[in-house]
Amino acid sequence: MEITLIAAFDKNQAIGKQGDLPWHLSSDLKHFKKITTGNTIIMGRKTFDSIGKALPNRKNIVLTRNEKWEYEDIITINNPNEINSICKNENEIFIIGGAEIYKAFLKTATKMILSYVETEVEFADAFFPVFEKEHWTIVNQSELIREEKDDFPYRIMTLKRVVK
Ligand SMILES: NC(=O)c1ccc[n+]([C@@H]2O[C@H](COP(=O)([O-])OP(=O)(O)OC[C@H]3O[C@@H](n4cnc5c(N)ncnc54)[C@H](OP(=O)(O)O)[C@@H]3O)[C@@H](O)[C@H]2O)c1
Repeated sequence: MEITLIAAFDKNQAIGKQGDLPWHLSSDLKHFKKITTGNTIIMGRKTFDSIGKALPNRKNIVLTRNEKWEYEDIITINNPNEINSICKNENEIFIIGGAEIYKAFLKTATKMILSYVETEVEFADAFFPVFEKEHWTIVNQSELIREEKDDFPYRIMTLKRVVK
């Protein structure tokens, strides 16, 4: 099973501010929707709170330590290892954040789809984990993208793990 981290971060690997995304990147959200629709997404409880509902046409899994936590159309897990049984028949699953969840899955991830946003967010409070660049190879890199409703330009890179 391919475990794919999908994230957008700035020049300092910032991903969030005050529980929300630090930017509006409409075209990146469309890209996220296109990639994840029909697939399984796994998120932290705080990221779920910021979205507020299950994302449609995807199997939504939320990681929380609270064993009583539940929500409509959400599969709850209390330990990252539970994905091995819940997702055993899937080819690829998508870890969609936030910071704690990326960190929890970084060691087992085999692929990353990263939007490198050309800005530096002030007072960011959530960051993508530091990863060993030499353990990954870039398999795809987009042109610089900036559509009408995007706050900043960004480039999408796909990386695959080369060293375990
Ligand atoms: N730019 C991007 O691509 C992107 C993507 C997603 C999110 N974000 C941003 O990231 C920020 C949220 O990130 P965050 O790190 O604060 O929160 P998070 O990773 O979304 O969620 C953290 C929560 O997940 C649960 N959790 C974490 N590790 C666990 C483990 N090992 N076992 C069981 N449960 C575990 C805990 O939930 P309980 O407290 O319920 O136990 C914890 O409080 C927001 O600003 C959001 O907008 C950015």
